[in-house]
Amino acid sequence: MDGKDLFFVSKMAEAAIVGNAESAAAYLRQFIDDLRTSGAVKEADRLQRIVEKRPARKASIARGQGGAIPVDAESALSIADREFVQSGSVDLILSESNLNAIRQFVVYIRESDRLTESGVGISPTMLLYGPPGNGKTLTARFIAAELGLPLVTARSDGLISSYLGSTSKNVRRLFEFAMAEPCVLFLDEFDAIAKKRDDGRELGELKRVVISLLQNIDALDKDHVLLAATNHEHLLDSAIWRRFACRLRLDTPNAECRTQLMQKFLSRFAPSGWDEVFSRLSDGLSGAQIKLVADDAIRAAVLQRSNVADAAGIASALLRETGRDSVDRDSMIRQLRALDERLFTEAALGKLVGLSQPAIHKILNKEHSHG
Ligand SMILES: Nc1ncnc2c1ncn2[C@@H]1O[C@H](COP(=O)(O)OP(=O)(O)O)[C@@H](O)[C@H]1O
Ligand SMILES: [Mg+2]
Repeated sequence: MDGKDLFFVSKMAEAAIVGNAESAAAYLRQFIDDLRTSGAVKEADRLQRIVEKRPARKASIARGQGGAIPVDAESALSIADREFVQSGSVDLILSESNLNAIRQFVVYIRESDRLTESGVGISPTMLLYGPPGNGKTLTARFIAAELGLPLVTARSDGLISSYLGSTSKNVRRLFEFAMAEPCVLFLDEFDAIAKKRDDGRELGELKRVVISLLQNIDALDKDHVLLAATNHEHLLDSAIWRRFACRLRLDTPNAECRTQLMQKFLSRFAPSGWDEVFSRLSDGLSGAQIKLVADDAIRAAVLQRSNVADAAGIASALLRETGRDSVDRDSMIRQLRALDERLFTEAALGKLVGLSQPAIHKILNKEHSHG
């Protein structure tokens, strides 16, 4: 039995002992989902028969479990997606301190009963913020997988209604839907609904939405974890900001993480010996941008029937992504040299672009005499 199985068993036992059949069944169904995704089909079927013996479920639970996801009355768009993220399937690369903060949050939720007994429980809420493409959505998936809870992601296009009063109604319905079973509720693009209440024009509606959010956040229990993500934390209402027990900023990756990201994305196409160069050149890029460069390089390699991505091509793409445009090979060589003389020795530059050291020397000094 692994940690997650034990988590489910203790949750089911706890619910059964206090006589909460709804909750016991909800955990059992999640356990079944989990067994099924990990390939334990026979065990899942056996437990499935037990869960089917349950008398008719209450409407609220029936809706939560695979039932109808609420839709916006006007646009008919669903206001949420529900999925079960398999544990171990989320490859999240973050600094040690960020990973520790996330692991600690997961432990606080798992151990919330003991912490609460001792008067030091925390609200199961975490706000993720920072520039786009650095792993906020991925972190939400990681946390849901670690907790073994379904991930209910609110879709801001469905949630936000152009009709007066409907957005706050949708927020209420979203929380109702989420409360029907233990889950991780994830509000992505959170600023879209949690904007400051002094935002001029739509004042009345915004106030209603924010108040509705605050009330619903305050009513969360330990079986309902709330995660929210925003690229624009300065737009958030300050009362909402304060409601989150944990707030984690995910910035662009540090040098070590950039190396790991590039290796992960290039995988078997990674040219060897260029880690430091790629890391140096991708400073300031987001994880998502590094993935774009890596995917381009793999595409080029595949088209050329090569087993390894071209290091010079990657270097030039990284220069382009970071806004230092290098139009041709010679100017790229000069730019790299100017960027870091220690890293880009004449020998290294020659190896990168496939020229001899004297040829590089000539290119570098041609620039010199012109400049
Ligand atoms: N820290 C990270 N670890 C692994 N992959 C990442 C990371 N940051 C970004 N990526 C890549 O970029 C994509 C977008 O990341 P995402 O989590 O959606 O960013 P955000 O929600 O912060 O805008 C991911 O699907 C992944 O491919
Ligand atoms: Mg995102």
